Amino acid sequence: MNSESSNSEGLPLRVKDLRVSYGDRVVSHIPSLELAAGQSIGIVGESGSGKSSALMAMLGLSSTTGAQPTGLVTVSGVDMLADTPQARSMLGWDIGLVMQSPQSSLNPTMKLRNLARAALRRHGVSKEDADKRITEAASIVRLDERVLGRYPHEISGGQAQRFVIALAVAQRVRCILADEPTSALDVTVQAEVITLLNRLRHEEGIAMLLISHDLPVVSELTDYVLVMRNGEVVEEGKTPQVFGNPQNEYTKSLLASVPEWQTERPRKNAWTS
Ligand SMILES: Nc1ncnc2c1ncn2[C@@H]1O[C@H](COP(=O)(O)OP(=O)(O)OP(=O)(O)O)[C@@H](O)[C@H]1O
Ligand SMILES: [Mg+2]
Repeated sequence: MNSESSNSEGLPLRVKDLRVSYGDRVVSHIPSLELAAGQSIGIVGESGSGKSSALMAMLGLSSTTGAQPTGLVTVSGVDMLADTPQARSMLGWDIGLVMQSPQSSLNPTMKLRNLARAALRRHGVSKEDADKRITEAASIVRLDERVLGRYPHEISGGQAQRFVIALAVAQRVRCILADEPTSALDVTVQAEVITLLNRLRHEEGIAMLLISHDLPVVSELTDYVLVMRNGEVVEEGKTPQVFGNPQNEYTKSLLASVPEWQTERPRKNAWTS
């Protein structure tokens, strides 16, 4: 944990009383969330419980979906709910987004290396430095550099996910927000992406916010978890405690719906005291 963790203003991500509405309807309310360097927080809950709406607000992207957020969201101290150039510049610089199917968000007319270069150049990185960072990042995420010479339609889902994560590393983000990062991948590739995200957290100190329906993955990757239902957080706490000894009836039923939970207790979470 870095020295900034004692100063909550400079945390990679800080949320206080976030409410996201569509018209009159509040679809997501997060009373409080603080993510420090190297920490990982999960959000779980049924479909429509407001997880992605909260995440879009944290990225300063609510206006793209017609949602209205209120409350406080800061990324490295910058107010993400204010529609300012500074807030807009945080995504792809301080904070990275990993989504379910990244291929659709990549410009199909550009090879991956050029895409990465353009993303870094937008933040004022020189061409030379950009190329150096891209090579370094590809090596960190173990993405074969030859893949960077391909177009988005020429790569697999797993390679696309690895590329998006490499881009976040090259941008030197402090925090990655991941919304169902593995659900479109087959099981072997899922495991690779999970291992990679975990490694970045431990070796690079990148903080993670992970939204997933895959409770064993959340159990393995996070040290704190929020359980949401109907737009509200119904339970939260350290992941082994919430998953090992749920207090809320909804959390109990959510866990009971995972067949392997019956025979295999939550996986050991080695990163939580
Ligand atoms: N653009 C929109 N306009 C109006 N309502 C929306 C919009 N997007 C989402 N909603 C509503 O907001 C609520 C929360 O949706 P959200 O996508 O945040 O849920 P979620 O927890 O991410 O669900 P899932 O697990 O299916 O991804 C839902 O009732 C949804 O119908
Ligand atoms: Mg969602």
